[in-house]
Amino acid sequence: MTDVTVLGLGLMGQALAKALVTGGLGVTVWNRTPGRAADLNDVNESATAASAAAASDLVVVCVLDYAVVTEILDKVDVSGRTIVNLTNGTPRQARETAARVEKAGGVYVDGGIMAIPPMIGQPAATVLYSGDADAYDRHATTLSLLGRSRFLGTDPGEAALVDLALLSAMYGMFGGVWHAFALTAKANLPRQEFAGMLVEWLTATHAMVSRPPDAEVVASAEMQLAVYPNLFDASRDEGVRLDFVRPMYEMMKEEVATGRPIAELLRNADEQT
Ligand SMILES: NC(=O)c1ccc[n+]([C@@H]2O[C@H](COP(=O)([O-])OP(=O)(O)OC[C@H]3O[C@@H](n4cnc5c(N)ncnc54)[C@H](OP(=O)(O)O)[C@@H]3O)[C@@H](O)[C@H]2O)c1
Repeated sequence: MTDVTVLGLGLMGQALAKALVTGGLGVTVWNRTPGRAADLNDVNESATAASAAAASDLVVVCVLDYAVVTEILDKVDVSGRTIVNLTNGTPRQARETAARVEKAGGVYVDGGIMAIPPMIGQPAATVLYSGDADAYDRHATTLSLLGRSRFLGTDPGEAALVDLALLSAMYGMFGGVWHAFALTAKANLPRQEFAGMLVEWLTATHAMVSRPPDAEVVASAEMQLAVYPNLFDASRDEGVRLDFVRPMYEMMKEEVATGRPIAELLRNADEQT
């Protein structure tokens, strides 16, 4: 028996296995395509997912998506095992997988990794968890080797929900960042200098994210709406597409027309025209 098994040795699975080995644990690994453990010293590579899962009480799964998770777990005897699934998915997929594992006699913790592989094992990496609290507590020390752990409660769907919410914020931010780089592509400012300004500006905007919804208005929706035609005109003059900025403008117009904040408008998909 080893301390922990990792199923899936893609870019993230390899980073997880490496952090666990570095933490001094005995690690068994399996990957569909053999040979991915070549760069990992001191791991036991199993020929099948079933034999790999049989080697440890704690089984960490990190593969492409939940269809693959299901395909793998169908071939594994999960009874008596704690399955910690760090594959990205939806809350519904997490809850269904939890039910399937529990029906088969295992316990289930879902997780969301808020990091890229080089960050794994570093304090800047956060891993969200939810699901079976006793299993999480039992394995918390091992899981802490992957990064900063945050347990969000016993609903197995909660970690996936918060993971997707944080990713949506990241992708929205990147949309703005890519637009900003395109807009300044021909400016005199060197790209790296502008990148530094972007980081400072985005850091400064953290204060706006933390403001409660009922805080005093210091930048009216009407004022912000007036900025957008300028952003559109300048973008057209620079030959930059409007794909990322247009949807925000549409939401801002609706906010001004209805007097309802964007966060509230977004919560009513049924009202969408
Ligand atoms: N990389 C990141 O920056 C990052 C960050 C946060 C979260 N994540 C999440 O971590 C998970 C894994 O990401 P990754 O970066 O490791 O992806 P990846 O490098 O593309 O690896 C995908 C893994 O899934 C396996 N796989 C795909 N189809 C399979 C199948 N039909 N049967 C068995 N195994 C199959 C691959 O096996 P083969 O080697 O045989 O193809 C490989 O181990 C994803 O859910 C991702 O969203 C990744």
